[in-house]
Amino acid sequence: MDQPTIPNSDAARDVAYLMHPYTNARRHEDLGPVVIERGDGVYVYDDQGKKYIEGLAGLWSVAVGFGEERLVNAATEQMRKLPFYHLFAHRSHSPAIQLSERLVSMTPDRLQKTFFTNSGSEANDTVIKIVRFYNNAIGRPEKKKIISRLRGYHGINVASGSLTGLPLNHADFDLPIDGILHVSCPHHYRQALDGESEEDFATRLAAELDERIVQEGPETVAAFIGEPVMGAGGVIVPPATYWQKIQDVCRKHDVLVIADEVITGFGRLGTPFGCDSFDIDPDIMVLSKQLSSSYQPLAAVLFTDEIYQAVADNTNRLGSFGHGYTAGGHPVATAVALENLNIIEERQLVGNAAELGPYMQKALRSFSDHPLVGEVRGTGLIGAVELVANKASKTPFEPKMQVGGFLGERAMEQGLIIRPLLDTIAFCPPLIINRQQIDDMIECFATALDQTAKHVETVT
Ligand SMILES: Cc1ncc(COP(=O)(O)O)c(C=O)c1O
Repeated sequence: MDQPTIPNSDAARDVAYLMHPYTNARRHEDLGPVVIERGDGVYVYDDQGKKYIEGLAGLWSVAVGFGEERLVNAATEQMRKLPFYHLFAHRSHSPAIQLSERLVSMTPDRLQKTFFTNSGSEANDTVIKIVRFYNNAIGRPEKKKIISRLRGYHGINVASGSLTGLPLNHADFDLPIDGILHVSCPHHYRQALDGESEEDFATRLAAELDERIVQEGPETVAAFIGEPVMGAGGVIVPPATYWQKIQDVCRKHDVLVIADEVITGFGRLGTPFGCDSFDIDPDIMVLSKQLSSSYQPLAAVLFTDEIYQAVADNTNRLGSFGHGYTAGGHPVATAVALENLNIIEERQLVGNAAELGPYMQKALRSFSDHPLVGEVRGTGLIGAVELVANKASKTPFEPKMQVGGFLGERAMEQGLIIRPLLDTIAFCPPLIINRQQIDDMIECFATALDQTAKHVETVT
């Protein structure tokens, strides 16, 4: 089986950086769980009654905040009316139809058809299958490889987990599967050459992609997948002109562009979709999380009419489209999603992210001079602070020190839940957050960061 493909030494350094051997670490079973009992707005409460700001919106997902009665009502009404029906064998139901129409009208024009799943991982497995089915349908059985990126996150199933470019999601799971390739992560801070501008870095990454496609044979490469802004890999905003250059390479080789908007969809970056922020014109888009604010499990794959038509014709030839999930497009989940999208629209939460995003980014950047902080990055209402042992050389901390984890625990003591991705601390609050709550979040983080600095002093 193929091992993760390490295309150049920058990428190898990236992998080495992420592949932390957790020797001497505390055992995971000693770390919790913290039992969260209820939520209200941007806050959650544990079983001891302690209140936390949910600085990661759960898992990058609860756009409208916790305890939203309108979503409870939407679910209840739908449960009474039609608690379950499926979308197999020429059946459908009105919440799925309405949601599909709504998504088609909201997303870039070329995306005309929707396929529902229960999770982002299932959605990306579906994408891989649709890409294969499509290329078989149009007589290109060789054109099947999919190119993803190191540090990208696209899910956890055998296929979607292979798209993911994080070593810990591959190690000992015998992933990735054949036919999935990884190119460099567009992280200027860690991957750019000395003195390389963002644009030159983007040009180099596009050239790397071009070379890789040529080396593999363009007739074998079907698609390129990326998150407009990487989330779980460390909140990585691509360098200026990156997406334009990457798309040019894809178009040149007739390679489909897949935008995984599971985190960036529905306003996270201050625009309706990440594609709007970066001028991406995708052939396929993947949505989840803020789609239903994760009140119900739901994801959607949107694709072009051209792909749909080929899939439909092949389905007619074969007699059936042999793919689907029992609960895919579940009526309760789709009804909740419709109401969630109403709330996002009525309360202008995309606008809130556009207005408060720069405020949060500015506040986070106030930590740039802190001795522990290597880089502050982000856009809209998603950001990250990367901790380093040495600012000048960007040297990471020894993994076994678990500095990010230590900070995460101090933040929780302060009443803030954020997410340490190794030593990168991620922020992604609910889209309903206000200025005062951002100030509170930053204050808790500042205290936790200083406590962490003192701790580091004592142990080094
Ligand atoms: C960009 C992206 N794609 C896919 C997924 C997988 O979604 P799920 O956890 O619902 O399977 C995630 C989850 O965090 C994600 O961030």
